[in-house]
Amino acid sequence: MTGRPGAQGAPGASGTLAAFAAVSLVLLSATVVAQELPAGPGRDIVAKRCLTCHEGDLITQQRLSRGAWGRSVDKMVRWGAVVENDERDLMLGYLAGHFAPTPVASHLVATAKNEGIYKRACMTCHEADLIASQRLTRAGWVRSVDKMIRWGAVVPEADKEGLVDYLAARYPAR
Ligand code: HEC
Ligand code: HEC
Repeated sequence: MTGRPGAQGAPGASGTLAAFAAVSLVLLSATVVAQELPAGPGRDIVAKRCLTCHEGDLITQQRLSRGAWGRSVDKMVRWGAVVENDERDLMLGYLAGHFAPTPVASHLVATAKNEGIYKRACMTCHEADLIASQRLTRAGWVRSVDKMIRWGAVVPEADKEGLVDYLAARYPAR
């Protein structure tokens, strides 16, 4: 029979050690969790009231309006969180201030604008599939747009760059 040397230490000592390790781990993770919440007024009250059941990431990954944060806190209270009346305002200010819905990314706005240019300039003479069947480099799209302009497409100079960006991103060379 092959034994497993080293597996059995003095039970008393290893038990104490394990308990010590467990306590340090709890203390360590409590610190890490508290640090997940960005600094600001109300942070301490949120850390105290909200990190007893779950980690901060459940909170920090949300993007909610103040009203929606109010509903979220109400839900947590129904689930057992303790929030005093005079803590609520500060808490909601912190949550709504740090974890608000993100504004639409500027590149998406740009894409929508360029799509508008594309529809105005290119959807008047032929169907989109004529364009969609092409796969061109950016330079190729510049030549294609120039050709269409010679053939009568109306593309204001200021819109050309955005239009080519749109085409090159949507129908890139394969
Ligand atoms: C009594 C325990 C408890 C406390 C205290 C608590 N929560 Fe929760 N919370 C939960 C449970 C349970 C879930 C669901 C966890 C899961 O889905 O894994 C949750 C989930 C969440 C979620 C994820 C979305 C959702 O609704 O499931 C958010 C956001 C949240 N809590 C915010 C908070 C805030 C803000 C506080 C402080 C006011 C708080 N929690 C305090 C128990 C608690
Ligand atoms: C004034 C009319 C007109 C407009 C506006 C127009 N096109 Fe065209 N386009 C044509 C004609 C005509 C053809 C040739 C159709 C055929 O072959 O059936 C064509 C064909 C194409 C083709 C197929 C390949 C080729 O070069 O023949 C592509 C790609 C194309 N157009 C892209 C565009 C883009 C991008 C726009 C917007 C800048 C645009 N077109 C706007 C008239 C136009």
